[in-house]
Amino acid sequence: MTASSGLPVRVDLLTGHFDAINVQHKSTCMRDLQGVFSDDAARKALPEDFEVYHVEMLASPQQEGELHTGTTHLMPGKVADEFFMTRGHFHQRREQAEFYFGLRGEGILLLQPENAPAYTEQVFAGSVHHIPSFTAHRLVNTGHDVLSALAVWPVIAGHDYQSLQPDGFRIRVFDRDGKVSLEVAGV
Ligand code: F6R
Ligand code: ZN
Repeated sequence: MTASSGLPVRVDLLTGHFDAINVQHKSTCMRDLQGVFSDDAARKALPEDFEVYHVEMLASPQQEGELHTGTTHLMPGKVADEFFMTRGHFHQRREQAEFYFGLRGEGILLLQPENAPAYTEQVFAGSVHHIPSFTAHRLVNTGHDVLSALAVWPVIAGHDYQSLQPDGFRIRVFDRDGKVSLEVAGV
């Protein structure tokens, strides 16, 4: 693969870090995750500038038919008993699918189709995940180390963070006495 500059791009498959010019970074801190965790008071009590995850992305041409490539690095930790996770989203263009590739750490990918029950997949170094169209998705770090996953998705997909409100994902992931517990939200 070559960057638009013509310089070669390298990805470290042990970490997901890109060695390229024009890598863009987006950081998501505790203050940005209002209403995401079931215990929002516990979230507010944590340092607001703590970075829960960040995404590094290669520069992509912004036109239909092109693809984004990015790695999410999700820290280990919990808000009360609930494991750290990404905000999660549907694609604005619901028919657009995505691939995730687990690179390091241990976690869970939550998948929630628009009109079917939510389900989960284990994320680990070497895991491959097809996120179908019309399916919201969220990463959860259930391990003790950083969880990193490489993703490839259409530039036209966009993000829709609102449609999951107010109920959010129907599965939440907690640490119950040292065990990973998948629990149906609101029950
Ligand atoms: C892109 C994608 C990932 C996420 C990233 C952060 O479609 O699924 O790159 O954007 O894992 O998660 P969100 O966007 O839910 O904050
Ligand atoms: Zn996505």
